[in-house]
Amino acid sequence: MDFFKTVEDRHSMRKYVETPVEDEKLQKILETANKAPSAGNLQGYEIYVVRKLEQRQALVKASWDQDFLAEAPVVLIFCANPARSAERYNERGIELYCIQDATIACAFAMLAAKAQGLDTVWVGAFNEAAVSEIAHIPSDLRPVVMLPIGYAGKASSVRPRRELRDLVHEA
Ligand SMILES: Cc1cc2nc3c(=O)[nH]c(=O)nc-3n(C[C@H](O)[C@H](O)[C@H](O)COP(=O)(O)O)c2cc1C
Repeated sequence: MDFFKTVEDRHSMRKYVETPVEDEKLQKILETANKAPSAGNLQGYEIYVVRKLEQRQALVKASWDQDFLAEAPVVLIFCANPARSAERYNERGIELYCIQDATIACAFAMLAAKAQGLDTVWVGAFNEAAVSEIAHIPSDLRPVVMLPIGYAGKASSVRPRRELRDLVHEA
């Protein structure tokens, strides 16, 4: 799919059908995330793949009943790994770069999913401790975004954006 069409067609999806995500498509999504830039190329993040229904149901509870987390057959959890970024960047690595690394990787994953006919939604509202326990994420990592991936269960709706003249400023 053309890059700009992929971006244009991506919208948050909060309803999924049961159709599994093909292994090759998931692999491509993960490989694309791995191409994202990161501070000093340290890749200060980790990705956890959640597929088991029981765990996905627990993620629903850990995210104040965002029930689509149980509908989507795969949920990726992008975690900041502060220790990796701290190696070179100390406090800035811990407080900022590892989170940026994790989130830009997630953005790449979202677009790779869309380019293959899959939908996603960025989930930032969740109890971090509960998510870590459910997905067996070690305590030195910080889950920063969950990304359910699956086939859309309904048509997506298009959210409006700010006008560029309001958003962009001549410095
Ligand atoms: C940092 C961040 C946190 C978000 N958290 C949630 C969330 O917890 N649940 C949810 O349904 N959507 C969440 N979203 C998705 C936004 O609501 C969505 O991207 C926005 O409304 C624009 O819609 P669009 O993605 O369809 O363009 C989040 C998005 C971002 C970037």
